[in-house]
Amino acid sequence: MSIARKGKDLLRRVALTVNGTRHELELEPRELLVYVLRERLGLTGTTVGCDTSACGACTVLVGGESVKSCTMLGVQAEGFEITTIEGLATNGDLHPVQQAFHEHHALQCGFCTPGMVLAAVSLIESGGATDEEAIREGLEGNLCRCTGYHNIVEAVAAAAGVI
Ligand code: FES
Ligand code: FES
Repeated sequence: MSIARKGKDLLRRVALTVNGTRHELELEPRELLVYVLRERLGLTGTTVGCDTSACGACTVLVGGESVKSCTMLGVQAEGFEITTIEGLATNGDLHPVQQAFHEHHALQCGFCTPGMVLAAVSLIESGGATDEEAIREGLEGNLCRCTGYHNIVEAVAAAAGVI
């Protein structure tokens, strides 16, 4: 049996719903969700900062919960609604968290921003963004090397209505 044939034998047919669209894919069981999103579906708004679950740049929503997509296999995401940064705006209108990041200048290079925004959406929707301390704690798994976090926290507080 050739290596290619061996690889093909390992492929598993999976249906993933991403940003409201259902995709039928053949995935290797070892493929990480972040690479399925970026390389199979072309959703490159989800970035890879570390590949070791430290930075949070790859954060997406899986069933409404924020998940570091480098820590999850693509096949494990079957049956869940997945939201990436590309799916957050509605009919061209920014999501309130995106709008707050814009208004509060909560980004510089933007590399961490998609993951930070999605982590913030999840934090707010879970009721966890109650004050500055809770926001800082809730976003501690998302690293930003540019902003010093101040404006990010301010933006999330504004979107959560706690300032
Ligand atoms: S790329 Fe996933 S946590 Fe850094
Ligand atoms: S804005 Fe550059 S890493 Fe956060």
